[in-house]
Parts: sequence; structure tokens; C-alpha cells
Amino acid sequence: MLDYGDFKLCKAVFVNLIPITSPRFLAPETLVVMPDWQEIFENDNPLVLEIGCGVGDFAAQMAALHPLWNYLALDYYNKGCLKTCKRADKAGLANLRVIRDEARSFMERCIPRKSLRAVIINCPDPWPKLRHRKRRLVNAEFVEFLAGYMLPGADIYFATDFVDYGLDVAEMMPGLAGFENVIAPDLFRHELEGYPRSKYMLKFMAEGKQIYYVHYRNVS
Ligand SMILES: C[S@@+](CC[C@H](N)C(=O)[O-])C[C@H]1O[C@@H](n2cnc3c(N)ncnc32)[C@H](O)[C@@H]1O
Repeated sequence: MLDYGDFKLCKAVFVNLIPITSPRFLAPETLVVMPDWQEIFENDNPLVLEIGCGVGDFAAQMAALHPLWNYLALDYYNKGCLKTCKRADKAGLANLRVIRDEARSFMERCIPRKSLRAVIINCPDPWPKLRHRKRRLVNAEFVEFLAGYMLPGADIYFATDFVDYGLDVAEMMPGLAGFENVIAPDLFRHELEGYPRSKYMLKFMAEGKQIYYVHYRNVS
């Protein structure tokens, strides 16, 4: 039985969705089965996936920096997708598409295995309460899941301001087979050359916090 809270949630998700008309937005109904990415981008450049792109400021910078990457900016937050599209449209980024979906579900349906040139996760929700930690997106099981979709030599980038999350991921990664630490001997750094800053990174840095960057390469 739905209660009033469920009703408000459903209304927010299904009724109050601001329509996104950008040509860079891939409508959910077109992503039910494996898309033809070459046809979508009109080239066979490698795919890069950013999970949880928020408002797309980082995605727009990365897509501009790497015109030979086909950049998929994904978030299940509609307003974020809308803002990402607006940014990409304004910058005329031909190599960026925006997807409103849940990461794992989208990848299982729409990403060919061993096809991603990079996976990027910036400032994922930290779930700071101890009892909520199991909701964190990035853990060993999720990185192993991602590995199945990564090309040999593909990069995985993780960034967070949350000390405990940063240390957890930094200490977990060396235990995973098939990955090489690009920033060895460091497990994490507080600066990553050439890596743009996202909205959340800038917000946290303005509060005097440090960002924890982790960068690995798939060698399997
Ligand atoms: C804290 S925000 C960070 C946004 C952006 N990466 C930044 O650094 O500014 C985390 C984002 O991840 C999205 N997100 C969390 N889990 C997700 C999932 N499983 N699939 C898709 N998006 C997700 C949320 O909707 C939110 O927009």
C-alpha cells in the first residue's frame, strides 16, 4: 500500500520531470536494448562513461579536452541531465551524450563488454552514517563489475572529498586483480594534473577540504 511519502516520490519522479529536448539527450525509451554507439556518434571512437555527472560541468570540460572520446554523461537526476545538456549544447560538444539512468542497470543493457576507454566517478554520494555505508556506489564488487566493461588499458578515476571514502577506495584498489596503480607509489593524491574540477570538488575545496583522487588502469 502506497503512503503519502511514496505518492510524493512518484509524483516527483514521473509527473514533475522537466522534459529534455536537447539532441544530446538519449531518450530512455531508446536505451532499452543495446544502442549502436557508432551510429549515435557517427564514428567509432572509444566510449568513456562518467557515472553521476551531476550538472555536467566536469563532463563538458572532459569532452572538450578529449574530442576523440565519445563521452557518456550519466545521472539518474533529471535536473542534472537537463543542465548537462544545456552546457553541452552551448559548447557545441559533438562527442557528448547525456543519459538519465541508474549506472549498473544502464551498463548491463547498453554498454558492450570490454568497450570503455575510461570510467569516471567524481564525488559519489558519501553516505556518511555508518549504517548507510553499504549504500555507497564504489566498493570492490562494483569495481570488478566495471572491469568487465573496460578495455585493456582503460582508466578508472575516482574522486571524493570524504576522507573515509577516499581512504577506503585507495586501500581497496591494490587488492583487486587486473588493475595497475597509475599514481604509484601513492595510493591517492590530492591533485591530479590535467583533471578538471567538478561542481562538488570546487564546493568542497572552497570549504577548505582536500580531494582524494584514485587513478588505476585496467591491465587484464
Ligand atoms: C554528490 S553528486 C556529485 C555530482 C558530480 N559528480 C560532481 O562531482 O559535481 C552525486 C551524483 O551521483 C548521482 N548518482 C548516484 N548514484 C547513482 C547511480 N547509481 N546511477 C546514476 N547516478 C547516480 C546522483 O544523482 C548525483 O547527481
